[in-house]
Amino acid sequence: MTEGYKVADITLAEKGREGLYVAGRKMPVTAGIIRDEFEKTKPLKGIRIGACLHVTKETGNLARTLIAGGAEVYMCGSNPLSTQDDAAAAMVEDGAHVYAWHGNTDEEFYWAIRQVLDAKPHILIDDGADLIVTAHKEYPELIKSGIIACQEETTTGVKRFESMEAAGDLLVPLFPVNDARCKNEFDNELGTGQGIVSAIYGMHILFAGKTVVIAGYGHCSSGMALRARGLGARVIVTEIDPIAALKAVYSGFEVAKMDDIIDQADVIFTATGCNDVVAKKHFGKLKDGCILGNLGHFDIEIATKDLYAYAKDIKPIRKDVEEITLPNGNKVYLLGQGRLANLVLSEGHPAEVMDQSFALQALVSQYIVENKGKFKAGLIKVPEDIDNKVGFLKLKSMGIEIDEWTEEQRKYNEDYSEGT
Ligand SMILES: NC(=O)c1ccc[n+]([C@@H]2O[C@H](COP(=O)([O-])OP(=O)(O)OC[C@H]3O[C@@H](n4cnc5c(N)ncnc54)[C@H](O)[C@@H]3O)[C@@H](O)[C@H]2O)c1
Repeated sequence: MTEGYKVADITLAEKGREGLYVAGRKMPVTAGIIRDEFEKTKPLKGIRIGACLHVTKETGNLARTLIAGGAEVYMCGSNPLSTQDDAAAAMVEDGAHVYAWHGNTDEEFYWAIRQVLDAKPHILIDDGADLIVTAHKEYPELIKSGIIACQEETTTGVKRFESMEAAGDLLVPLFPVNDARCKNEFDNELGTGQGIVSAIYGMHILFAGKTVVIAGYGHCSSGMALRARGLGARVIVTEIDPIAALKAVYSGFEVAKMDDIIDQADVIFTATGCNDVVAKKHFGKLKDGCILGNLGHFDIEIATKDLYAYAKDIKPIRKDVEEITLPNGNKVYLLGQGRLANLVLSEGHPAEVMDQSFALQALVSQYIVENKGKFKAGLIKVPEDIDNKVGFLKLKSMGIEIDEWTEEQRKYNEDYSEGT
């Protein structure tokens, strides 16, 4: 066990270990093939990795793999409400320096980030950009000469770094792991898609027959719309992107403006990365009993602060669910204070899908060390062969083989001259 840490209760480690074991059994690539390889070859020997991630049992398995590879791991939580305290305690027993507990304040959140940065990490792994942005603002020496390269796990973080790069402010090489195919075509779509079911489970509602409004039809939200429909709901999609909206139409969903349909919603889920999707102007239109949940990274998609200010009464009715009485007498139910409902009310993405995301993080960490000194500041696409390797390893773990191009097929596919 390490000395530098702060978690809610270290005696939860035993329970956490059980959770890590169960998750690890469903992560054959990260916790199996790659960990075994890392144990033998120690590709991360002497490397300090600073991570700001949702501290869950799956993340505990990533930490174990990085430690198996020889890294020292410093970890803080990427959301005040997503830390699983038992997993955090187990990670400390594994030797990670963890500064994370469920329900921290904004001040404590940044204190934890600074503990990680004070360790002078060589690689930063972020989820939402708060770690790396803080490093840019407060740790100029680390940015200038300490960091080899960084990684970002989620869409909102990648968007923040794209803006930073456009403004000329991104000073480190950064791999947007979120954008790798093995990540966003699975974790975002399947994990967040299924997340609406686990998020709302405690409300014991029947989806069938409900009108569910899904804001967005991107990676996460298209998965959410499909899952809601699969459970028998009437699903209405809102969008701002014409092509995403068309995809929703052609997939058989109703598409409309939020202003026009919000009064029909029994349930509203957002995952857009955008603020004020459910805004002050909508509150008076919400149906009695409407459930509001956000699965986007920050708590700005449902204007939570405005909703609290507008409310006549706020009453917690079960863990992480508040009943909000509106001035017109209607009662609505806000999940997880408008924060990532799948992580706050449930356990986040299933381990099977995090296996791929974290396999990428582990292999990109190895790639960063092996190619130290070769990167320039800015966003760098995750190499296709790493993405493909994770795909192949996951298939291998399932005992599935796929075809390979013959030499003739390769020539045909790479040649432009042959046509009709
Ligand atoms: N809850 C989780 O576990 C989890 C997992 C992965 C990603 N995320 C987060 O979910 C959010 C969405 O990620 P993504 O990968 O689906 O992004 P994406 O870019 O693929 O999709 C977002 C979609 O929302 C649409 N949109 C933007 N503003 C809108 C508005 N005002 N109204 C309606 N639609 C709007 C965009 O046009 C786009 O189609 C991000 O904040 C991301 O970080 C959460």
